[in-house]
Amino acid sequence: MLAYEAIRHDVLVIGAGGAGLRAAIEASAEGASVGVVCKSLLGKAHTVMAEGGIAAAMANVDERDNWRVHFSDTMRGGQYVNNWRMAELHAKEAPERIRELEAWGALFDRTGDGRILQRHFGGHRYARLVHVGDRTGLEMIRTLQDHGIHRGIEFYMEFTVCALLTEGNRVVGAVAYSREKGTFFVFQAKAVVLATGGIGRSYRITSNSWECTGDGLALAYRAGAELADMEFVQFHPTGMVWPPSVAGLLVTESVRGEGGVLRNNQGRRFMFDDIPEAYRAQTADNEEEGWRYTQGDRNARRPPELVTRDHVARCIVREIKEGRGSPHGGVFLDIAWIREKIPNSAEHIKRKLPSMYDQFLKLAGIDITKVPMEVGPTTHYMMGGIRVDGDSQVSSVEGLFAAGECAAGLHGANRLGGNSLSDLLVFGRRAGLYAAQFARQAQWVEADQNQVHAVIAHAVEPFERAAAHPADSPYRILEELRELMQNLVGIVRTGEEMTQALDGLAKFKERALRVGVVGNRFYNPGWHTSLDLDNQLIVSEAVCRAALTRSESRGAHYRLDYPNKDVRWGHINLVVRRADDGMAVVERPLPEMPQELKAIIEEMK
Ligand code: FUM
Repeated sequence: MLAYEAIRHDVLVIGAGGAGLRAAIEASAEGASVGVVCKSLLGKAHTVMAEGGIAAAMANVDERDNWRVHFSDTMRGGQYVNNWRMAELHAKEAPERIRELEAWGALFDRTGDGRILQRHFGGHRYARLVHVGDRTGLEMIRTLQDHGIHRGIEFYMEFTVCALLTEGNRVVGAVAYSREKGTFFVFQAKAVVLATGGIGRSYRITSNSWECTGDGLALAYRAGAELADMEFVQFHPTGMVWPPSVAGLLVTESVRGEGGVLRNNQGRRFMFDDIPEAYRAQTADNEEEGWRYTQGDRNARRPPELVTRDHVARCIVREIKEGRGSPHGGVFLDIAWIREKIPNSAEHIKRKLPSMYDQFLKLAGIDITKVPMEVGPTTHYMMGGIRVDGDSQVSSVEGLFAAGECAAGLHGANRLGGNSLSDLLVFGRRAGLYAAQFARQAQWVEADQNQVHAVIAHAVEPFERAAAHPADSPYRILEELRELMQNLVGIVRTGEEMTQALDGLAKFKERALRVGVVGNRFYNPGWHTSLDLDNQLIVSEAVCRAALTRSESRGAHYRLDYPNKDVRWGHINLVVRRADDGMAVVERPLPEMPQELKAIIEEMK
């Protein structure tokens, strides 16, 4: 049996992005001893890829905004299968979380009279996104990190958690390894908060960084927790398509929020051709009006590029498929055209979109103040995740909480841009608060040594397999898995292709049992990949099974064989859980929405 180091914290937070840091800060403020385990170095979280802003109805730019409008926009964006309680709490609490972040040192862009500036984003009725140029996620992480570091929280960097430890239906800790040294650690904890982010690395084209392998979802699932809404994967309409080494890298929606337009290879603004019914009344029918909207004209309607992401992504796919794409398989996103509208447009673009300017200049040799960008959809965000209680963020396992992208509910079938950063703040805080409260009244339960030993033995198996017989490569399987998910469970789905995908996944699962790695446990990426692969197989299967079950199209889940929304499915969430014979998908009716929230939605319509 390999040795391990034992560590004890009241609350263990897994993940150090926005949600994890916010949870840790709150739990620590509640007096809990807090440990944060992160896969990467502190500060290098995927949160930084939410560039354009944090959605909060502060009404600084448009006093018509308030939590009710934000609530109804979020529900409409999610096509009404959201957890309405989370949507309510999120809309109500987001402004307070922004003010708090500012008090902790975040430097947001300002209006002329010194208030926090807000910008337009898809699906939000009013200019609502609090931002720092196009580096908002970065500023948020910097602020939370600076604040958190002074609170006595212990950070364990470059650690990966292999399994949660349980006693009956209660979580009692986790087993992790140091990526650098390959040594094992057993964290005893009264409560655990999962904040591990998304699953994007299971797709070939993604904006997600290497950490996003669905670890939290897989850990929770193996520990007996339920997952929900797994069929809803968001494909952001605009990722880079060229050069190939950076394909998928995010091109922020702020480009469109600042007046950028989408065109096909005939120069046509194709988004005017197909505006969804739900957004028709609020969408401009001519270029001039759309431009005025982005410049703050309150009587103008939004440009068609600012409808929800699911729709924009599908329109782009249509243009590419029908031969009207750009040379490298995308479409054109043009912000340079605003030189016709404003003097010193180049300076304006560099000030509003500094990262985009640098990104395209350095990576693609393109000056976006002069020429259009080439863009195409990229796997960006997971609406589904661990099923949690809307108030406390506790999962179906006692003591196990989840927040941020790895938790399901707030966004329903499609997330509005900017709602992820506010999600992290609102529900990160709640998860930390309730985890600390749980820890205060809970007894310590010692970890079962048999479980610990089994986890460690399983983790090092790939070394033994490589020594025993010719083994399969984790990289090869992963590459094939990402290709399969991209091609068969992507933006446009069919039952036939997803059935094929499930067969493929079953074969990968068998092959994963024969994965072998060579070398030792000191920083061994092959070994790390072999362990991530187990998680990616679980989340990919869950996405595929849920998507196959939902026989309709809704939000980000679009099926060619069921192209319409079905009223029956509008009342159902799909829940994925472990069953004796594998993975089960069950229908769960949405809880009845209180009358006052229904009235808000009706009124806003
Ligand atoms: O486009 C963006 O800046 C992404 C923001 C988000 O996903 O919330």
